Amino acid sequence: MTAIAPHGGTLVNQWSTKEEAPEANVSISIDKMALSDLELLANGAYSPLTGFLSKEDYESVVDRMRLSDGTPWSIPITLPVDEEKAKQLSKGDVAELNLEDTVYGYIEVSEVYQPNKTKEAEQVYLTTELEHPGVKKLFARPDYYVAGEIVLIERSEREHNEGFYLDPAQSRQHFEELGWSKVVGFQTRNPVHRAHEYIQKAALETVDGLFLNPLVGETKSDDVPADVRMQSYQVLLKHYYPDNRVVLAVFSAAMRYAGPREAIFHALVRKNFGCSHFIVGRDHAGVGDYYGTYDAQKIFSHFDEEELGITPLFFEHSFYCKACEAMVSGKTCPHGKEEHVILSGTKVRELLRNGERPPKTISRPEIADVLIEGLRTDSSVQS
Ligand code: ADX
Repeated sequence: MTAIAPHGGTLVNQWSTKEEAPEANVSISIDKMALSDLELLANGAYSPLTGFLSKEDYESVVDRMRLSDGTPWSIPITLPVDEEKAKQLSKGDVAELNLEDTVYGYIEVSEVYQPNKTKEAEQVYLTTELEHPGVKKLFARPDYYVAGEIVLIERSEREHNEGFYLDPAQSRQHFEELGWSKVVGFQTRNPVHRAHEYIQKAALETVDGLFLNPLVGETKSDDVPADVRMQSYQVLLKHYYPDNRVVLAVFSAAMRYAGPREAIFHALVRKNFGCSHFIVGRDHAGVGDYYGTYDAQKIFSHFDEEELGITPLFFEHSFYCKACEAMVSGKTCPHGKEEHVILSGTKVRELLRNGERPPKTISRPEIADVLIEGLRTDSSVQS
């Protein structure tokens, strides 16, 4: 196995066969976000968590970005139910967890509690504004949280190529087989544009391999859909990356858009997948103007590198400079704004949806073509 210890020391495995699964006396309907969390709890991506957070751990995470035993953890992993269901549940119950007639797993109920969502929003998202997609989701979900250890018996349907699903134990083994000890993780909810490629390759110059780990769980509706992105990543890797230096696998969590707090969470999870390093660029996991450009980097100073156990690699806002004829950042380029090619994500998506390639200095033409075609045929995308 890779030399990188999982968070908390042990890689959690809460997978159970149907035969060994506990007998349920009650059932809970879960949403897609809870289902993705359930799977990531079970496969060890959320180690050391073995279930949905207790009230004590939840409050500790909300207040101080740590579990109650002091282990760093920045995003509450919770299982919301409505008041009627909350009243039916008591400590010691075993609830089956189902979505659309499939039982995916079980929770041994240790507690049901009412969270202070306003405080959760303030602390985790740094805003209570409902325009923020993470806050909107937080308040849209039911108002009571169920805590307890889980087991998983059934995985959700795999929407992407089977080969792109790796459990942390598998990615760790894969890195070892490749002989990689320094692996840099890359989180994205976007297509890989030239700036992403630049910072990935800058990191790749100093480590053994890149773990390209795009998030494919729930995202806001105007983000490029995961299936279209998956096609674009494969085309990009084929044309522009040496195939023995990159592993592409999906990260099935929902996007929280919690900026700085989510950067810590993203790093810890990638450690569990076996990464030694993690890229944090500009406005990581941000949305709108809620977070400062480098807040998601600054938050790492709240923790010792040892207790995080993964080394963040920080990158400045990167872009193409016409005078340098290269990808650069403020750290490497002396020229003024007039030489820099910078387009917002919204503008790039708008061009693509209109069937237009963004400049080559923003997006590789091969990638632009995949995205244009994907967005043209994807009916779920809003224009
Ligand atoms: S997200 O998951 O963090 O929301 P996004 O695709 O926007 O996804 O960014 C992926 C990673 O690339 C993040 O670490 C982000 O900070 C970084 N990044 C994105 N664009 C740039 C850029 N132009 N310069 C530097 N870093 C960037």
